[in-house]
Amino acid sequence: MSELVLKIENLTKTYTLGKREVQPLTNLNLEIKKGEFTAIMGPSGSGKTTLLNIMGCIDKPTKGKVLLDNVDIGELPESQLYKIRRDKIGFIFQSSNLLPYLNARENVELAMELAGKFSGQRSERANELLATVGLSGRESHRPQRLSQGEQQR
Ligand SMILES: Nc1ncnc2c1ncn2[C@@H]1O[C@H](COP(=O)(O)OP(=O)(O)O)[C@@H](O)[C@H]1O
Ligand SMILES: [Mg+2]
Repeated sequence: MSELVLKIENLTKTYTLGKREVQPLTNLNLEIKKGEFTAIMGPSGSGKTTLLNIMGCIDKPTKGKVLLDNVDIGELPESQLYKIRRDKIGFIFQSSNLLPYLNARENVELAMELAGKFSGQRSERANELLATVGLSGRESHRPQRLSQGEQQR
């Protein structure tokens, strides 16, 4: 069980705003193995969200390598990145980003539909998953009727 799922080598991220540059990440190195839980801690503005966005294939490194299952995601075009986001990344945002006009079950089903999975049994599977996170009975509630923590679950 020492398989590396994520390896980051000398990652630098620079944002350019007009003439001003902000560099929240400089030569960062990190390895995460399969099955490991890792917490990233630091003060506000230290680059946590920047790092998570890069790990989650939402943003690109300025320099350095990010290897996810041995694939350098910095080299991939958007046409490949979306598949990695869809199939390999689970992202719980601070604000949940659920679709407000879909209920809890339909929001869960949407991800299965986009991935082409569980065809013909999406509702049942979504109900099972909602039960797993303690949300039985809330399947038909829209996000606005759920607390922020419930939305994240
Ligand atoms: N898109 C952006 N353009 C310019 N600067 C940014 C952008 N995103 C984040 N920053 C800057 O990068 C630094 C790190 O931000 P962030 O990763 O959000 O920190 P944290 O999540 O640790 O609070 C901050 O100084 C922030 O202002
Ligand atoms: Mg943040």
